[in-house]
Amino acid sequence: MTKASPRERKAYIITGPTSGFGYRTALEVAKHGTVVLVGRDRGKLEEVHKTIERGGGHAVPVVCDVSDLASVRRAAAEITALRLPLAGLVNNAGIGQTRATKNAQGWDTVFATNHLGPFALTEALMPHLPDGANVVFVCSGAEDPERRPAVIAGFRGGRYISAEASARGEWKSGGSTHPGFDSYATSKQCNLATVMAFARATPRLRFNAVEPGFSPGTGLSRDANVLLRLLGKYVLAPLAPFIRYWSTPARSAKVITNVLLNESGGTGVYYDERSRPMLGSTLARDPEFQDRVVAETRALLSTVSA
Ligand SMILES: NC(=O)c1ccc[n+]([C@@H]2O[C@H](COP(=O)([O-])OP(=O)(O)OC[C@H]3O[C@@H](n4cnc5c(N)ncnc54)[C@H](OP(=O)(O)O)[C@@H]3O)[C@@H](O)[C@H]2O)c1
Repeated sequence: MTKASPRERKAYIITGPTSGFGYRTALEVAKHGTVVLVGRDRGKLEEVHKTIERGGGHAVPVVCDVSDLASVRRAAAEITALRLPLAGLVNNAGIGQTRATKNAQGWDTVFATNHLGPFALTEALMPHLPDGANVVFVCSGAEDPERRPAVIAGFRGGRYISAEASARGEWKSGGSTHPGFDSYATSKQCNLATVMAFARATPRLRFNAVEPGFSPGTGLSRDANVLLRLLGKYVLAPLAPFIRYWSTPARSAKVITNVLLNESGGTGVYYDERSRPMLGSTLARDPEFQDRVVAETRALLSTVSA
């Protein structure tokens, strides 16, 4: 544990630190600096906060619903007002849904939670991050229509038409027959496109992506039926360490933390669950597509007054 006072310790912002990958990443990062815990549930944030402080670490909870643009803007202002020596950001919060819902702005909740909110938070915080700081997006191989395990699971890759269409919950035809899969895969394709576009546009910071591996025991598909959730938690999760493309929150947290803390790494790299560079979908690798996603996302977000 670092001996510096809380005001001097580097501070790392992590969204979604109350469950799954984000929780384990928060505990891991707390060994290296202050953790700014960004989550929607004050009670759960307090629990994580207490766990970190009991272990001798330091954390600051900030309530934020990343699906809601107003909440994201408030949280970004609150974080910068803390005047901590910010050193990095992990955009981890995310959801999958089998029944589509709308957020406070009337946008598809999955697209707003997984892409629009993290995008807005990142753009609001970027000016406050020092040169060389790492920004990590927790992405997913579900975005790639050619990734075998995702295809076997029923995904058909990102189905992006435009940011506005995604916000309306409309996806390119020929997608998945599973409800919610196109929304999830498209939001994750937009994460990856954003990382690559930001990496090119802002070389003073490092933007990298991590595909944390399939981890069936997390809360990601919490609206799935109870049988599936029990199967995931008690039957499939224990198998995760032994299966290719699968991982555990504890193992992937180390990968995410290493990318976040790396002071000499590259930018625009997509890492797999074992820290190896991997390729995203053909579309997500296309700079024209990446720039279109960024421009259309900015245009959509600018329609909501501050
Ligand atoms: N599990 C997998 O197999 C898998 C595979 C590839 C990628 N991923 C990605 O990994 C990331 C973490 O997922 P996970 O599997 O660890 O799921 P998880 O256990 O459900 O954790 C998700 C975290 O995000 C938070 N969150 C959700 N909606 C939010 C909102 N509107 N505002 C603020 N926080 C919100 C949750 O908070 P609450 O506790 O309050 O709900 C929780 O802390 C996601 O980006 C996901 O897409 C997961």
